[in-house]
Amino acid sequence: MSRLIVVSNRVTPQQAESGSSQGGLSMAISAALREYSGIWFGWSGNSTPEWTGELNEQNVGGVTVTTVDLEEQDIEEYYNGYANRTLWPLFHYRIDLTAYERSYGSGYARVNARFADVLAPLIKPDDIIWVQDYHLIPLGRELRERGIRNAIGFFLHIPWPARELVVTLPRHRQLVESLFYYDVIGFQTQEWRNAFVAYVLYEASGMAMTDGQVRAFGRTVIPKAFPIGIDARSFRALLDEPAAKESYARMIESKAGRKMLLGVDRLDYSKGIEERIHAYDRLLADRPELRGETFLLQISTETRSQVETYQDMMARLDALSGRINGAYAEMDWVPVRNVHRMHTRDELAGVYRAADVMLVTPLRDGMNLVAKEFVAAQDEADPGVLILSRFAGAMQQMREALIVNPFSQEDMADAINRALAMPRGERQRRWRALMDGVEKEDVVSWRDSFVSCLEEARDADRRPRDGRVMPAEEALGSRPIA
Ligand code: ADP
Ligand code: F6P
Repeated sequence: MSRLIVVSNRVTPQQAESGSSQGGLSMAISAALREYSGIWFGWSGNSTPEWTGELNEQNVGGVTVTTVDLEEQDIEEYYNGYANRTLWPLFHYRIDLTAYERSYGSGYARVNARFADVLAPLIKPDDIIWVQDYHLIPLGRELRERGIRNAIGFFLHIPWPARELVVTLPRHRQLVESLFYYDVIGFQTQEWRNAFVAYVLYEASGMAMTDGQVRAFGRTVIPKAFPIGIDARSFRALLDEPAAKESYARMIESKAGRKMLLGVDRLDYSKGIEERIHAYDRLLADRPELRGETFLLQISTETRSQVETYQDMMARLDALSGRINGAYAEMDWVPVRNVHRMHTRDELAGVYRAADVMLVTPLRDGMNLVAKEFVAAQDEADPGVLILSRFAGAMQQMREALIVNPFSQEDMADAINRALAMPRGERQRRWRALMDGVEKEDVVSWRDSFVSCLEEARDADRRPRDGRVMPAEEALGSRPIA
């Protein structure tokens, strides 16, 4: 079996004993690497006064983890800059928040080249290389330029935006061209895959072929949707852990018979947290009978705290929940519980289980694993209701949720009202269908389908191709998004 080398910006392997929070990508990679011998390579999260390229290697839970420190300037320009002030907002449709600084672009290029310098010597001829997310788009090209001929795949965990947005990025062609040095590009949904292909056809004079490849810049690549999943069985098993039982019991007690609405997110403007709280405010204003009968527990963990947009959001969120609490709270009831603390995964599983309604209402999200974790944690005899944004990648697979438009307070308030009143039979029916999908399309099937597509691409490379050019309408699919 080939070794799998996974490369991601953040490398936080799951420590069985700690159960701490790690974000969607790292949870998925921890689970995906468990059965492969291989390496997980990336940034250590630490800074060094001067780049040395010295590798730190350790074995964590059976996974070989190799990391490297970055200079402060690298962190500022590559991570806080190009990744989180440029690509993240742009790819989440927030050009109003997107910063286009040349220094960010050069820091991004420099760090990708540095990663390639230290990674290339670790690669053996049969290794399969799997690069993760928007921080590392140019890495495949950098590796090729250092003579690496192995199969290299790339997976984008966030949306690929409409081409009208991509073209606002200075040197967008160069960024897209670098994706053509991979063998396979994975997207979370067909919608993001099609948006990428549309760019290739209309902005890069490319062609889509009947064999699934697209051609442009004198190269070919396979763009395909591989929706990411969770390790459903082990997530459900967390409910037997003492910390999960304790957090569940604690929440049931503190609910005191009230219905609990829950939001769990990294504190990020893409997650629609403020819009969600406004919708709850609207519901309380329109339906006074719900006051005292429900509350919203919003757990939002601070993230990317060196980026001003995130600092501003934290302040706005605290002010908003304070205002609503000031307007409605009673001596024995607070409508919004605004929590910023990190929770362990088992604690979180207990909290999901205690929730009556889960609000996963991003304005735009690549997938959203929280929605899948909530479903996995439910009691099948009395499951809670999932309210899911039509703009989350997860919506494509989770249509039995109550699907909402997070931009409409009324739509959201109606959905919350409907969820609170939903009869048990309907809750069970919806949950069963959702759970079947979460179990079937789990993280192992995500990993296996991506890796086998990459292996096939590598083998097919040695055979002549018989693809024909496809008309654009066919290549882009004509099915409406929702
Ligand atoms: P993203 O990758 O954008 O952060 P996802 O919903 O796909 O979004 O993944 C978020 C991951 O982070 C989930 O596994 C979730 O359990 C975890 N997480 C989010 N907030 C917290 C929190 N407050 N405490 C612990 N884990 C959290
Ligand atoms: O899933 C998107 C993503 O940006 C991952 O790449 C990342 O690991 C996670 O969210 C958390 O973000 P960050 O590493 O910036 O805290």
